[in-house]
Amino acid sequence: MKLKVYRYHEGMAAPRYDTFQLVPSPAMTVLEALFQFQEKLDDSLAFRYSCRGAVCGTCAMLINKVPRLACRTQVESLLKGNLKVAIAPYPAIGETVPWDPEEEVLVEPLPHLPVIRDLIVDMGIFFQYYRFIAPVFRPSDPDPEKERIMDPAAVKKLETYTNCVLCAACHAACPVVGQNPEYLGPAALAKLYRFHVDPRDVEEDSTLKRADIPNGWWACDLYGNCNRVCPKGVPPRTAIEKAVAALNKEKKEA
Ligand code: SF4
Ligand code: FES
Repeated sequence: MKLKVYRYHEGMAAPRYDTFQLVPSPAMTVLEALFQFQEKLDDSLAFRYSCRGAVCGTCAMLINKVPRLACRTQVESLLKGNLKVAIAPYPAIGETVPWDPEEEVLVEPLPHLPVIRDLIVDMGIFFQYYRFIAPVFRPSDPDPEKERIMDPAAVKKLETYTNCVLCAACHAACPVVGQNPEYLGPAALAKLYRFHVDPRDVEEDSTLKRADIPNGWWACDLYGNCNRVCPKGVPPRTAIEKAVAALNKEKKEA
């Protein structure tokens, strides 16, 4: 099989693709394949990783036209077609090079974020929107003597949303982000929803109001690519739908 990898650095007139012949070992991940590429073909290939266990979120990239974590995506499964994800198409993934999905694994940087070098993107805007919604716990009651006890049913409501590793796969897969770079995006909104459903977070104003702006909840077109690609099972689209319904109800009753 071959690994086809996007290459770009400042000063190049246009990006190019390098192809590397690889014999995958059982359960080899795309991240491990990239290490081989570095060792055997070109050690200047740039990509991010840290934990190698789907925890830090730094190794997200576009693999076979789907945003995924390189450390948890197995090469053989890709070639066998076992990892197909039916995402709604959008322009950023439409621009492609000739590529044979049965023989080649195509690795590119995440769409919707500027490329710094090879597979490394500038996450600045992603974290700017994350900071904008200020996703922090704001209890209005004084600190209790011991812990704040939570009802298990309430924990269940929010725990899915706590799994986000800020990898930006959902941001990269979102057609609305591609059309409207000022949209706060699925990751930030899902995180805000997590605090809305946290009964300990009792701000005076509704938590949802922090994104009650045209480029917040209301900009989502419910494509659902975010739910489909999230490697941690977080469902941003579901959170946004629920937030919109809650805000509409609040406005009706006001
Ligand atoms: S919601 Fe999922 S896809 Fe989006 S940043 Fe968090 S972990 Fe990544
Ligand atoms: S290296 Fe940490 S999520 Fe992949």
